[in-house]
Amino acid sequence: MENIKSYVQENKDRFINELIELLKIPSVSADTAYSQDVINTSEAVKLSLEKAGCDLVEICETDGYPIVYAEKIIDPTLPTVLVYGHYDVQPADPIELWTSPPFEPVIKTTDIHPEGAIFARGACDDKGQMYMHVKAFEYMIQNNNLPCNVKFMIEGEEEVGSVNLKTFVENNTEKLKNDVILISDTGMISNQQPSITTGLRGLSYVEVEVTGPNRDLHSGLYGGAVANPINILAKMIASLHDQNNHITIPGFYDNVEELSLEERAEMAKAPFSLEEYKSALNLNDVYGEKDYVTNERNSIRPTLDVNGIWGGYIGEGAKTVIASQAFAKISMRLVPNQDWEQITELFTKHFLSIAPAGVTVKVKPHHGGQGYVTPTDSIGYKAANMAYTETFGVPAIPVRSGGSIPIVALFEKELKSKTILMGFGLDSDAIHSPNEHFGIFNYLKGIETIPLFYKYFVELSKK
Ligand code: BES
Ligand code: MN
Ligand code: MN
Repeated sequence: MENIKSYVQENKDRFINELIELLKIPSVSADTAYSQDVINTSEAVKLSLEKAGCDLVEICETDGYPIVYAEKIIDPTLPTVLVYGHYDVQPADPIELWTSPPFEPVIKTTDIHPEGAIFARGACDDKGQMYMHVKAFEYMIQNNNLPCNVKFMIEGEEEVGSVNLKTFVENNTEKLKNDVILISDTGMISNQQPSITTGLRGLSYVEVEVTGPNRDLHSGLYGGAVANPINILAKMIASLHDQNNHITIPGFYDNVEELSLEERAEMAKAPFSLEEYKSALNLNDVYGEKDYVTNERNSIRPTLDVNGIWGGYIGEGAKTVIASQAFAKISMRLVPNQDWEQITELFTKHFLSIAPAGVTVKVKPHHGGQGYVTPTDSIGYKAANMAYTETFGVPAIPVRSGGSIPIVALFEKELKSKTILMGFGLDSDAIHSPNEHFGIFNYLKGIETIPLFYKYFVELSKK
């Protein structure tokens, strides 16, 4: 694979321009105002897979946005790699905090990306990382060195919970049959230190509603005499953590896997600077569960966070009012063995039980998924590590991530194969935030590393 480097060098401008075109389509799955754009993006992805050399490329309709499925079967007796990615993106807001419009990609340099980074919503999560696979595949076809079969499954609803993908996978287990699932939708430690994500957290996402009086009231005439839904909601939410930042929902920790001191010591070996972490976020200190360090709090420990809270008057000036209702969106990140549906039930039961008289409370579950851990002794992990070692010059470090890709646990259950999470993004790439970007170095390095994964996976499978 000597020539992958030169192929990338010769084609890099085209690779960048093609990605920029894809990033111009605002495929925001959460907002129906963009539904035509999401559909148009699926067509663009389909076209790119056809051009890259897939034999079969299909748009698979679902009850939501389509799934793009493609394959190149060279020999049914050879292993099959299933590539998963998503073409939908997070909403861009707050739009005023972007330094350039989110769907007008531009290349700018940053301290971490001196060679430039593409700034656009979806640049890293996940259009850029998904497209690396299309270009790596193109290279293997053009150079006649695709060593195995490939299937692509690129969905448009990852950012809203992959609800329809679940049904698609359940109904198409034969079509999706594979020997390993390969995903680039995570990150790595730094451009000098690659890492392979060995764990993802699960998720339970709920919305709560607190209702007091049947209408908004004058806060002087009624204040003090009726329950104020916003005060009550704030109190209820505050009570969900104790003074040690443990979650107070009864049963919440029952199935949480406790890592041994050896495993925690192993984790602590990954390079990490608390000072750099704080300064990157402009924080005077970190915050979290007692007895755990930052890299444990955000990966091996479950959490509960309010993602949004609203109610009452938030317009200009002051309005003296007691709102009739208050709302919040709450996410719980879960660790392997915690069952998201059970956690959703525990939350609901507890939240209803702490509601004082004077208000009524509703809990509406949104979506969720199980966490995931993958072993480091599988053929897939070894192949990925060999690929990174070759392109970065140093072996990859296994890292458990705090993020979630809920469908990964379902893949293992339905398709009976392991997922390898070969991410090329950085935490500083600002996914889900204003000014999301993806380093040109990372994009091209990904395209260079992926074909090596194929090569080593097939080699190791033969043994
Ligand atoms: N690609 C991310 C998940 C991710 C990012 C995992 C970085 C590890 C490292 C994915 O698109 C995502 O944002 N997932 C959602 C969950 C989904 C159900 C909305 C998340 O983690 O919030
Ligand atoms: Mn993603
Ligand atoms: Mn995301």
